[in-house]
Amino acid sequence: MLNLDARYYVSPDTLLKERSSIFARSWQHLGAASQVAEPNAYLAADIAGYKIFVLRGKDGVLRAFKNMCRHRGAQLLEDGNGKCNGVRCPYHQWLYNDKGDLLSAPWFGDKPPIVLEDWPLEAIHVDVWRGLLFAALDPEMSLIEQLGALPEELADEPIETYMLDRQDKVEFDANWKVYTDNFVEGYHIPGIHPGFFAAIDFKQFATTAHKGFVRMTCPPREDLFYRGKWLWMWPNWTLSLFEGGMNTSRINPLSVGRTEQLYNFYFDDLTPATKAARDKTIAGNLAVVQEDCDVCAGTHKNYETGMFTTGPLSSRHEEGVHYFQQRVAGALGI
Ligand code: FES
Ligand SMILES: [Fe+2]
Repeated sequence: MLNLDARYYVSPDTLLKERSSIFARSWQHLGAASQVAEPNAYLAADIAGYKIFVLRGKDGVLRAFKNMCRHRGAQLLEDGNGKCNGVRCPYHQWLYNDKGDLLSAPWFGDKPPIVLEDWPLEAIHVDVWRGLLFAALDPEMSLIEQLGALPEELADEPIETYMLDRQDKVEFDANWKVYTDNFVEGYHIPGIHPGFFAAIDFKQFATTAHKGFVRMTCPPREDLFYRGKWLWMWPNWTLSLFEGGMNTSRINPLSVGRTEQLYNFYFDDLTPATKAARDKTIAGNLAVVQEDCDVCAGTHKNYETGMFTTGPLSSRHEEGVHYFQQRVAGALGI
């Protein structure tokens, strides 16, 4: 088992291929369904550069669109979530309703007049699974097929009862696959996360690849915010269990050498009495993530120079790395 060749981590052409063959073709986990529960609520997101938004109509139906005006392609909504009563393009003020129909194109002129029905927003796919929101530009398969064996894995976890507490974003200078390779193995825990290492029984750390996801488990030795189970799902989202909660994240490329990880933290109790404990869990989690970002940035630099090409993967610890890299290679046809 060898590592995927480093040239695929630093090539702008590879990122373009990944955009069209992985990010445009897969379901992307965008956040909590509760963020778009109310009529007129929207969530706008970036998927490897593709701008999209999800909007709950006044009729209660959830729809998703390319976040792009049909006139000359301006971005309609800033990334983020909120409420909107229709969508007005900031550029020349074309106005769309909650179903994506073009309602007006002010000052367009009438020689010839515009046929409004010809220029609705372009719809994309949206779905919800157990309280988690997903969208897809041109999915290769249904969401449930993409999730593979995950529904069974999480059957006994009450994930839809957890409430979104807060969101966070971590950005770092490394290719999205450098970070993913790191996420799907625990081999680096002794070297990179000494505090975390001391709190688990590392000898029992187990990593297994399954249809659609990688599972990592390890019994905590002492009081640790993690519950000892971390999941990564193809192609780029994660779910880690806490006592009474979880986080999810999406690993999103900003460029070939820069990545953002978008975190959502959920708990079963959001009362003020638990705030200090929740804050401590989130801070502890983000401190671990920062340690990962630092080692990934240094690794990416070595890939950039071309000095490193490949190395051997451990079957004891890096089955998840192999699974992820094989799926990338398959999608890219390499
Ligand atoms: S690009 Fe939107 S109105 Fe011109
Ligand atoms: Fe790590």
